[in-house]
Amino acid sequence: MRKEITRKIDWIGVNDRTTDLFEDFWPLPEGISYNSYLIKDEENALIDGVKEGFTEDLIGEIGFDGDGLDLDYVVINHMEPDHSGSLRSVIRLAPDAEILCTEKAKSMLGGFYGITDNVRVVKTGDTVTLGSRGLEFIETPFVHWPETMMTYEKEDGVLFSGDGFGSFKALDGGIFDDEVDVQEYSDETVRYFSNIIGAYSATVRAALAKLKGHEIEVVAPAHGLVWRSEPEKIIEQYSRLSNLESDPAVTLVYGSMYGFTERVMEAVASGARSVPGIDLKVIDAARTHPSFTLAESWKREGLIIGSPTYEARIFTPVEQFVNLATKKKLKERKVGFFGSYGWSGGSVRELNAAAENLNWEAVCDPVEFNGEANSEKLEEGFALGETVAQAVAKAG
Ligand SMILES: Cc1cc2nc3c(=O)[nH]c(=O)nc-3n(C[C@H](O)[C@H](O)[C@H](O)COP(=O)(O)O)c2cc1C
Ligand SMILES: [Fe+2]
Ligand SMILES: [Fe+2]
Repeated sequence: MRKEITRKIDWIGVNDRTTDLFEDFWPLPEGISYNSYLIKDEENALIDGVKEGFTEDLIGEIGFDGDGLDLDYVVINHMEPDHSGSLRSVIRLAPDAEILCTEKAKSMLGGFYGITDNVRVVKTGDTVTLGSRGLEFIETPFVHWPETMMTYEKEDGVLFSGDGFGSFKALDGGIFDDEVDVQEYSDETVRYFSNIIGAYSATVRAALAKLKGHEIEVVAPAHGLVWRSEPEKIIEQYSRLSNLESDPAVTLVYGSMYGFTERVMEAVASGARSVPGIDLKVIDAARTHPSFTLAESWKREGLIIGSPTYEARIFTPVEQFVNLATKKKLKERKVGFFGSYGWSGGSVRELNAAAENLNWEAVCDPVEFNGEANSEKLEEGFALGETVAQAVAKAG
């Protein structure tokens, strides 16, 4: 597909509606787009590519003339194969095109694809002129990988931002923020950020600071919408997410094998609800992919976790979420824990350890019970929910 972004600059991306799991793990119920861009001026540049299976679509849009591709430059903002998978075929058809990328990307080019010729390393501030269009490169390490950079087109202020400012969800008909209801992309942006970029929140903040001196008229990421009407909206959303800013609301994540923990969960949920105006999201960890549980928890400041003890540890599906939250550095949460055990316990102890690791603030004592909770423990559960909800309501 092709769509003009501004004179001489086209979006030539693809929608992937059939891959079930991004990076073989993250569900894609609404698909994803791989956004590639083509600048046709006195010299022509391709910016980023697509996943391997979509290579033919990309080559068709660049314009295969039976002989080769009329490209002078191939800019690589990011080496992950969801963007670079098409590279080998493109280079085969445009053997004289110069590849522009960071030093780290250069060594990956050799490792991933055996490409070593015609590679020019660029650094922050380096520029390339294509005619009326000029490109400036900005190294943004760890937005998502160490080799990542962004490319800024100076005439029209178009920022080709790679994974930065990206989102899950295929582009349904419109590619621009003003063509769709951006609200429909918001949740998938949170899930993309928390799942893919979240662990690198600090380097995202560094990148945002680096971009401050640039007039950004259009944000053109490698996934999701192109922001031409309100580019500040996606920049603001990424700023909030990378600063771990969240809503005064509570996520309650639990698991329960035989219903003992679930019974207390109901009391905890009622307690949280008793605080006026508090938004509460209850998630059964065993029936929800941790991708979604992580995204929901990224949105809300309050996080309550309930788990039975399973072989001296946290119950597996809850543990899977806690491990993911640890890996993705979900910090700045106000938390409360509860859990059941049969003999020596362990789930609450391990939840406390995870909290320490992530600097979570426990706003009340955990509620722990042997088997079925008695009425006193149910009351403690209610109080736990209420206390966490009050803590985030106050902070908000
Ligand atoms: C497979 C399995 C493993 C368990 N492992 C432990 C354990 O290591 N230590 C412990 O104190 N209780 C253990 N228990 C007991 C449960 O933690 C206890 O029965 C709890 O009340 C179950 O709560 P639930 O109904 O919410 O799952 C185990 C139970 C099951 C079914
Ligand atoms: Fe990536
Ligand atoms: Fe990507």
